[in-house]
Amino acid sequence: MTKQPIYTLAIESSCDDTSAAVFKNNKKLSNIIASQAVHEKYGGVVPELASRAHQQNIVPVVDQALSQAKVDRKDLSAIAYTKGPGLLGSLLVGSSFAKSLAMALDIPLIEVHHMQAHILAHFIDDENQKIPQFPFLALTISGGHTQIVKVNDFFDMQVIGETLDDAVGEAFDKCGKMMGLGYPAGPIIDKLAKQGNPERFTFSKPKVSGLDFSFSGLKTAVLYFLQKEKKANPNFVDENIKDICASFQKTVVDILMDKMKIAVKDTGITQIAIGGGVSANSGIRTALKQAEIGLGWQSYVPKFEYCLDNAAMIAIVGYYKFLQQEFADFGSTSKARLKL
Ligand code: KG4
Ligand code: ZN
Repeated sequence: MTKQPIYTLAIESSCDDTSAAVFKNNKKLSNIIASQAVHEKYGGVVPELASRAHQQNIVPVVDQALSQAKVDRKDLSAIAYTKGPGLLGSLLVGSSFAKSLAMALDIPLIEVHHMQAHILAHFIDDENQKIPQFPFLALTISGGHTQIVKVNDFFDMQVIGETLDDAVGEAFDKCGKMMGLGYPAGPIIDKLAKQGNPERFTFSKPKVSGLDFSFSGLKTAVLYFLQKEKKANPNFVDENIKDICASFQKTVVDILMDKMKIAVKDTGITQIAIGGGVSANSGIRTALKQAEIGLGWQSYVPKFEYCLDNAAMIAIVGYYKFLQQEFADFGSTSKARLKL
């Protein structure tokens, strides 16, 4: 017999954010995110340090999620956790914790695919969140992934396009590093781009057929451009940072939107939902809004809180899996690489 209501505790630890959330059915009661500042000085996530920070953070983060939700652990119905993809050492902290607690409480364990969670975050019952209808197209853009997914149902998803090399968030972070910006550079570029001229510099777009993406060429183009300009003027980056960021961001948004136009044409689906850290980007949000007016699309953009890595998105998947009684085996293992 299903306990009603369903209280899910979810744990996300795939990269450099330790997060725990408590849901009552499909509604968020709490969503605590501890970001790891330790990586900033290295300009990227250091896997070993990430695992250690998860170990430090996980107990206080879970305690805070439960107390903010005002839910006692003995009232929990299930524990959901991220199985993958992600950094193995980081995933293992979350999965070991989830398994131990589920075993101690004698409740089901639910494993969740991180990218599926970025897509299903749209189904969290929260104020002002619009919920897409099936089928819809999801553009998942994060530090580790860039995919176009045809979403037929909660657990019927088909990847119809993906990056052949770097993820879009990686392109933001690596190009930002070349410009001397901090980590993660995506939000910094976004902020500077708002004050710059997007037409000032031109970066050539990759020529990849169909729905696949490539960002490594753009990265090289930015590198050569900066090297050339700095030779002529050593202060070039400092003097032009806003225009460089605006022009770079426009190129990335154009690449994403060009592919989405092909995907809409190929599938006839005009509902577009975005997910993943880069969906926080103001350029892509504006472009989607314009496509609603200009192209007749309906766009779905998650609340900022659900764009970056967070356990609320793991909890919503946990809830739908609970309804289907789709529980994990306690012997199941974390996977750094995991297909959708
Ligand atoms: O989904 P996420 O939190 O973690 C992964 O699963 O990768 O995404 C993190 C990525 C980073 O590359 C970060 O630079 C990028 O999302 N990001 C942004 C913005 N906010 C975060 N990129 C562009 N514009 C933003 N506003
Ligand atoms: Zn993510």
